[in-house]
Amino acid sequence: SVASAADPAPAGGPAAAMPEMFTWEFATDPYPAYAWLREHAPMYRTTLPSGVEAWLVTRYADAKQVLADPRLSKNPQRHSAAAHARGRVGIPGERNADLMMHLLNIDPPDHTRLRRLVSAAFTPRRVAEFAPRVQELTDRLIDDFVERGSADLIHEFAFPLPIYAICDMLGVPAEDQDDFRDWAGMMIRHGGGPRGGVARSVKKMRSYLADLIHRKREGLGDDLISGLIRASDDGEHLSENEAAAMCFVLLFAGFETTINLIGNGTLALLRHPAERARLQAALAAGDTALLDTGVEELLRYDGPVELATWRFATEPLTVAGERVAEGDPVLVVLAAADRDPERFTDPDRLDLTRRDNQHLGYGHGIHYCIGAPLARIEARTAIGTLLTRLPDLQLAADPSELRWRGGLIMRGLRTLPVTFTPGDTTTAR
Ligand code: HEM
Repeated sequence: SVASAADPAPAGGPAAAMPEMFTWEFATDPYPAYAWLREHAPMYRTTLPSGVEAWLVTRYADAKQVLADPRLSKNPQRHSAAAHARGRVGIPGERNADLMMHLLNIDPPDHTRLRRLVSAAFTPRRVAEFAPRVQELTDRLIDDFVERGSADLIHEFAFPLPIYAICDMLGVPAEDQDDFRDWAGMMIRHGGGPRGGVARSVKKMRSYLADLIHRKREGLGDDLISGLIRASDDGEHLSENEAAAMCFVLLFAGFETTINLIGNGTLALLRHPAERARLQAALAAGDTALLDTGVEELLRYDGPVELATWRFATEPLTVAGERVAEGDPVLVVLAAADRDPERFTDPDRLDLTRRDNQHLGYGHGIHYCIGAPLARIEARTAIGTLLTRLPDLQLAADPSELRWRGGLIMRGLRTLPVTFTPGDTTTAR
């Protein structure tokens, strides 16, 4: 078990006990294993379940440094050793390769150009203007189960909300959004594996997006895809493939993460009744400041992205005293860094009022999450509305029985069964 991995080392010898990772217990609660790594092996070379060998970075200071280090490339094709790993790291196959050349898999100068383009279209103003739509989607989803007195908050709430939100924002017509919901469902149920249904779903999404971008060109609207096309017409070049890859990354980077923030965040609140009561009291009094700091704390405490995406050394380098060879994959464990006692006081405690909470839940450096403003609005709206409309919300399962999805990068629940008094108990909508 993970607990036995934390047993003290034999007297006089190095801390030799290796934490057991990637087991069922580990998926349920990886934090004890990460605490062990931070303390005994902060730069840890391991063999992943896929068979790929990679370095895990677990301390906050190292994590931040690695995320901003230009010697680490996001593009596995730049090195043959890395390219070999790529085939086994769950990036869907060659047929969809053009779609995979998106922000998270490229380096400057292409990254700089594409990031500038999307920033010109995906503005804070566009996101702020979208907030009422997020509220509407949230209320509609709750309306569908409020009379029942029970729900699975993952399937009925956390999963559909971000999909509909990003589809709306991109400008995917309402009648096509259920297709996206199905493709996205297929992708998260079966991970990013290169075969079978996932590759087929990615392929369908790819041809749909190519077609949609074509149609938008013929009549630009005020959606995000039209904004991207406009930004590229104004100067910087954006090829058809790049536009499709951009839509794809906005969709796939934005949906499973947001599902997990709503799911993990709601679970954390249900497991911390005093913090939850405090938040509910504040919301009832019309005070949303605690919701703002609270969502940041939920990201730090049990965030959606357990490990940052793949990085590869383009030259030999040293991290935490270990030599990393050229081509080696390096994985930053955001979940471990965000519980580092060197950076956070009492890191295993959920404190919704936590100040100076510079967590790495959205990453750091040039790949810092571009969707963070939208994610924040979605999480605040979803969690705030749930606690307001369903004030006696309760977990309907033993926490130890909840199943986690167990992929490498993301951390999220398969289901979150809850019960509550049926019907709207509040008029404060
Ligand atoms: C990048 C987290 C929501 C779009 C990232 C990264 C993290 C992250 C950790 C950096 C990964 C790395 O460096 O390896 C999250 C979390 C979210 C969230 C925790 C929700 C709670 C969203 C949303 C969108 C989005 C809603 C879009 C609609 C992106 C994009 C990138 C990114 C496009 C790549 C940026 C780049 O490479 O320049 N996100 N994200 N994310 N995120 Fe998010």
